[in-house]
Amino acid sequence: MNRPIYIISLLICIATGYLMAENTTKPNLMPWPRSVTLTGNNYTITKDFSFALKGPASQRLNDYSARFLRRLAGRTGLFLVQKYVSPDSVIANPVLTATYDSIAPLSISMNESYTLSVKASGIQLHAVSDIGIMRGLETLLQLFTAVNKEFIFTGAEISDFPRFTWRGLMIDCSRHFMPVSVLKRNIDGMAAVKLNVFHWHLTDDQGFRVECKSFPALHEKGSDGNYFTHEQVREVIAYANARGIRVVPEFDIPGHTTSWVVSFPEFASAPGPYQIERKWGVFNPTLNPVNEDLYVFFDKFFAEMRELFNDAYIHIGGDENNGKQWNNNQQIKDFITANNLKDNHGLQTWFSKRIQQLLVKHNFIMMGWDEILHPDLPKNIVVHSWRGMKYLENAAKQGYMTVLSNGYYIDLCYHASTHYLVDPAPDSLNLSPAEQKNILGGEATMWAELITPETIDSRIWPRTAAIAERFWSAKEIRDVNDMYKRLLPVSLRLEELGLLHYANRDMMMRRVTNGQPTDALSLLVGILEPIKGYTRHHEKQSFITISPYTRLADICAPESDFGREFAYTVEKYLSGNLQAAAELPRMLAAFEEIPDILALQAEQAPMLNEILPAADNMKALAKLLHQFMHDKKAPAEAKDIIEKARKPVAETTPAILESMEKLLNLTR
Ligand code: ACM
Repeated sequence: MNRPIYIISLLICIATGYLMAENTTKPNLMPWPRSVTLTGNNYTITKDFSFALKGPASQRLNDYSARFLRRLAGRTGLFLVQKYVSPDSVIANPVLTATYDSIAPLSISMNESYTLSVKASGIQLHAVSDIGIMRGLETLLQLFTAVNKEFIFTGAEISDFPRFTWRGLMIDCSRHFMPVSVLKRNIDGMAAVKLNVFHWHLTDDQGFRVECKSFPALHEKGSDGNYFTHEQVREVIAYANARGIRVVPEFDIPGHTTSWVVSFPEFASAPGPYQIERKWGVFNPTLNPVNEDLYVFFDKFFAEMRELFNDAYIHIGGDENNGKQWNNNQQIKDFITANNLKDNHGLQTWFSKRIQQLLVKHNFIMMGWDEILHPDLPKNIVVHSWRGMKYLENAAKQGYMTVLSNGYYIDLCYHASTHYLVDPAPDSLNLSPAEQKNILGGEATMWAELITPETIDSRIWPRTAAIAERFWSAKEIRDVNDMYKRLLPVSLRLEELGLLHYANRDMMMRRVTNGQPTDALSLLVGILEPIKGYTRHHEKQSFITISPYTRLADICAPESDFGREFAYTVEKYLSGNLQAAAELPRMLAAFEEIPDILALQAEQAPMLNEILPAADNMKALAKLLHQFMHDKKAPAEAKDIIEKARKPVAETTPAILESMEKLLNLTR
């Protein structure tokens, strides 16, 4: 087969792979429900699909239901006859009847359970609360598929409830400001996979992102003009709440506070002046707990935030106080000694207690990163574990409610499988059943040093859908291959909510090629991954807030689907599969052409220059594969070729190196 034809046929294979994944009898449900029985009794969707709500008046559920109809129309191209859904609408013989008993107040104890029965004769959805109906509607939309030239809801009997009550996504809006539209589309994505807490990281060294009417200098001087007005905050909260999602704001104190002390240098522990931080890392500016004026300030600040935010919980950060300003401040050192506080941690606990008392006054429950953990703090706070499982275990053991984020740092670009296998309450923890109950759940954390509104969706999705399954589904649901089969179709469906994880990749590639065709670059982008963990920060460039986040590593998805496909094919080949033996030699063939195409395009597109070595590496790997398949043995230079490709190019590496080593039987 000649190469361009191979590329096209490969794309067709991938596309039909997705469609076929939708055609298998096992539906692409994620999170996988508690109990699923597939009956084969499918419901065929026509324009006469109708939907009745039976329960107390719930505007948010009426609205959710209207969006459900719109999504269904959008997927099917059908001009549905029904226009409105509410308990007041009289629908004769509805296809879908959703029955619920109550309107759930949004809280950590809200009931999200539901049962769903899909039959050829009709669909029944039952829930205790209107939120349960929302969760069930998302499951129904995941039962949507096509068979025999018709759209159907797969026949099934489902009974479902979440394993954990706290299933969150944190979005850092300080390092890079994320406009309301970005938050809204991601909140829709959260609802689609049954997440229920939007943790809004609003302040950090690089920006103070919420309007503060009591102390306007905070947002005026601390944000470069990029902050959420009160009206916008209310809009986001209303949007999330209408989808059964709570909003927990975070104001990170006493460290990570450069953007606060830009306008209030007197609250820092060392003299100013201060500027908004442009770099990434841990910085010295730290609030001075010894300054009593600080508590007068916070009393007013939290009073205003209580008016603005409606959740019971508020997050006060508390992480990464490097103590440098405290160590160099004699007044603070004397205070520690005079009050028998032992050290900086003792002082931070003293500070946290003062803040916690203020929060109680304003009817907030305090949450903080695991550095705040100290037995002197009251037991009704929530400890957010990010540094390791042992902090989760310690907190739960000491009787604190706790939420896990260690293992769910999606900014680090690890594969979905890595996060998926992290359990918020693994058997390895030494906890009694009562102590285990202190684990409320987990949160994926979208730190924003290296992302912008353009790339955030591709860092959150689809991997967060796998994490959402970990938080919702039974502990035993942990088959990685099965997760990946469902993840791709779920990811594609997220696009209907306006998520841009695929669309923006194309847009960003067009920018890099300066408007020239992106076919060649697209193949390369599909096989490369950004380097993992914090390693991007250690490459030649030093990233700051205004650096370009438009380069190769930003365009590449954290996880290459092609890389996984290649790995599967190698596994099949090694187990003697004849189809894989035919397929494998062709998988990389197209890469032999790419360096020449990109080199030519680079004349008009200088951003391509740093990418060319990656294309050269892939060409060398393609030739290596070709030669190996021909000779059935690795050539002498094989190791060097792979090692060369392992060195990051523009902060990326090919996602096939381990598979190549396995195939060529090379050990490192
Ligand atoms: C954190 O990642 N510093 C909570």
